Amino acid sequence: MIVLGIETSCDETSCAVVENGHRILSNVVATQIDLHAQYGGVVPELCCRRHVDVIIPALKESLSKAHISLEDVDLIAVAHGPGLIGALLIGVSAAKSLSVALNKPFLGVNHIEAHLYAALMSHPALFTPSGKILDSGEGLSAAVCSEALDSDPIPQAFPALGIVLSGGHTALAIMNAIGDYQLIGETVDDAIGEAFDKVAKLLGLPYPGGPEVEALALKGNSKRFAFKAGRVKEHPFSFSFSGLKTAVLYALKGQDFGRQSQIRSDQDKADLCASFQKAAFDDIIAKASSAAREHGCRSLVFGGGVTNNQELRRRVDKECRDFAIFWPAQGLSLDNAAMIAGLGYHLYLHKGQGDELSLEPVTRLPLA
Ligand code: KG4
Ligand code: ZN
Repeated sequence: MIVLGIETSCDETSCAVVENGHRILSNVVATQIDLHAQYGGVVPELCCRRHVDVIIPALKESLSKAHISLEDVDLIAVAHGPGLIGALLIGVSAAKSLSVALNKPFLGVNHIEAHLYAALMSHPALFTPSGKILDSGEGLSAAVCSEALDSDPIPQAFPALGIVLSGGHTALAIMNAIGDYQLIGETVDDAIGEAFDKVAKLLGLPYPGGPEVEALALKGNSKRFAFKAGRVKEHPFSFSFSGLKTAVLYALKGQDFGRQSQIRSDQDKADLCASFQKAAFDDIIAKASSAAREHGCRSLVFGGGVTNNQELRRRVDKECRDFAIFWPAQGLSLDNAAMIAGLGYHLYLHKGQGDELSLEPVTRLPLA
């Protein structure tokens, strides 16, 4: 089954062609970083205009790279939320138009759910030959994880703890199977990627800030500043990063805002980045491992742009050895349409039909 995926929820215009939920024939991502960098963040109006300009060329390129024509597409899957409403509208309108013109079904996919699927899609053995949605007893004996060789004992995935670490979302969810989730914690203020971007902005680093902070942190002393992420009363698995960001601001500007800044040299900046990153990852790793233990999860499934961070991967792989760990393959951490097409395949088989043309894009869309 050939699925065309469309992703326009934020600042990437992406079209992808994926076969049977896992074989990526093309994954074209047109990033808008150049457009928004000068403003230090995404400007929604500009974002929407760029999507309009780029979506047809991205679609054509995805088809030509996959060596297929539109008639070969069996299903169109599109991210219909959460995200920027105007941006989503362009992808959803494109999907509906194609659906009508080609007389093929289309399906709205949750962007956050797709971020979690991204880590699983490189492991087709996790899914039954029938392609049906898995439950925790079906087909998992053939599971492989990114750490395991075929000859190793085969880890089982579900129930898994899904850990979403993106620019717009930070959440923990129990995944019993694809399409069956229970949200157990999310951020009450900034998302983790947003916190990286804001810290970078405070330091005068370019947008998006995550890779910049990671690079500077490599040269820094993570013990220099004793930062800590927040706890959320009565919600042990929820996150709060706004206090951490304010602590960075105070370290940068001095407690009296201007006169006693401790940050002057490049080394100071590197120490600040390393200390911030350590505090953020200490918090995520502690909450994820205790949630996974408490809920009897077999694996940790990571998704979202922050999973591009190599220090995070190194620490998780070292500190969470009790669980099988699934990371998105290269090119599947940041926003992309391959994860939308891949998940769309499973959801379509599960539902047995596409969505109605009345489906609307939505800014907020709960995972569970
Ligand atoms: O998942 P994503 O592409 O978009 C959303 O759905 O939000 O994530 C983008 C976020 C940005 O905040 C970016 O700074 C962050 O991912 N990011 C990183 C790294 N690469 C991207 N954060 C930390 N370290 C990185 N290497
Ligand atoms: Zn995303």
